[in-house]
Amino acid sequence: MQENNPKREKWGSKIGFIFAAAGSAIGLGNIWKFPYIAGEFGGGAFVFVYLISLGIIGFTLMLAEFSIGRHSQLSAVGAFRKINSKWSFAGALGVLTAFFIMGFYPIIGGWSISYIFKSISGEVISSNPDITANTFINLISGVYTPIFWTIIFMILNIGIVFLGIGKGIEKASKILMPSLFILLIVLAIRTLTLPGAEKGLEFYLKPDFSKINGQVILAAMAHSFFSLSLGMGCMVTYGSYLDKKENLLSNAVIIPLLDTFVAFMAGLVILPAVFAFGFEPNSGPGLVFITLPAVFSTMPAGQIFAVLFFVLLTVAALTSSISLLEVVVSYFIDQKGWKRSKAVLFNSIIMFILCIAASLSNGVWANIKLFGLGFLDIFDYIASYVLLPIGGIFVSIFIGWVWGQKDALQEVTNNGTIKFRLGKVWVALLKFVLPLLILAVFIYGSVNIPLTIFSLVIIAIFVFIAR
Ligand code: TRP
Repeated sequence: MQENNPKREKWGSKIGFIFAAAGSAIGLGNIWKFPYIAGEFGGGAFVFVYLISLGIIGFTLMLAEFSIGRHSQLSAVGAFRKINSKWSFAGALGVLTAFFIMGFYPIIGGWSISYIFKSISGEVISSNPDITANTFINLISGVYTPIFWTIIFMILNIGIVFLGIGKGIEKASKILMPSLFILLIVLAIRTLTLPGAEKGLEFYLKPDFSKINGQVILAAMAHSFFSLSLGMGCMVTYGSYLDKKENLLSNAVIIPLLDTFVAFMAGLVILPAVFAFGFEPNSGPGLVFITLPAVFSTMPAGQIFAVLFFVLLTVAALTSSISLLEVVVSYFIDQKGWKRSKAVLFNSIIMFILCIAASLSNGVWANIKLFGLGFLDIFDYIASYVLLPIGGIFVSIFIGWVWGQKDALQEVTNNGTIKFRLGKVWVALLKFVLPLLILAVFIYGSVNIPLTIFSLVIIAIFVFIAR
């Protein structure tokens, strides 16, 4: 065990940390997932609940995770343990969550890489919805091709995590993140000027409150965890590399804002295009891959934009998946004393095996269902709908009731040198509001009750062992 590591690496600069943490938050969740779940759960109604959830839960938990991480200067498990030795299970649960998310995330990353090449050859770019939909289905339902691209994605991932925190993560994030912001703005201008886009804009921005129900609220809440990389110790781990002088508060505000900006822009690009070209907003996980090629077909130099877009999507996916892998890897380094190389390779192989099952569930294994879902959907469900919310409840209770107001506020305010007028409100939210709110939404909105119960049993067993 290496609980006290004086030589712990630090972020090269403040801006480096913001890019890395924003890089973790901004990923497939924003560009691939957000538009399609918004489309599935009623457009504006979902967006409305999502923004509220970010406001109440997002900032609060982001700050909570940063403060635990920076206080202890340790990755998730060690961080919880250092403050209270009975609580290492809360960190360990995050390691479990990372495996479920990494059981499908690299597949979507792989789709994205393959679309870079499909854009270069021009085969995907078409204004005919049937053609773009077919290209997508053909890709994901294959046996070897999607797994091949998953491997490529994993190799890139391994390479970056292998190089260690400063060199790999920071550099990758700093160069390409701003390009993504600019490209999304350009694309939004293009789709919003397409004939027929207004209907999509209305669908996206005008909430139809009658569509709000428990399921929509749970989906929106779960997605705010997923999108901000909260509820599994990721931001604890990133915070642990942060210098004692940094201002946690401003970071916890800037990163959710950047994240929301990207998701919002992605929705603004994709949903109006859905209506302009006659796609269905509830087309599911293929939405970004089938609608955007149609948008590119209407742009001068559309092919160049297409290549650029999928390169940036891949990079955004990588800066997120490295944070997921890093949670697992830093656990094995800090707690088990493994060498970085061994931790990276061993865990990547396990994740890759999960990915094979998940990828095949889009094709030849489509009939294999547990609790009514294929492997990919099961992994996503267990992670997003069960593990992340429960992780969020644990973090709230941990700060509110275990660590306590005085010590937590000392950390957040750098021993009183930073003003935090809402400090007491923040603690009260963590202490009383969030645990009950998250639990209520979780119970009220759970659709697949057998699978939820099954996941809870797994979690209980896991927590029992990890204790
Ligand atoms: N937030 C990332 C996205 O939106 C995914 C991600 C990275 C994540 N690290 C995480 C999700 C930790 C949950 C927990 O794509």
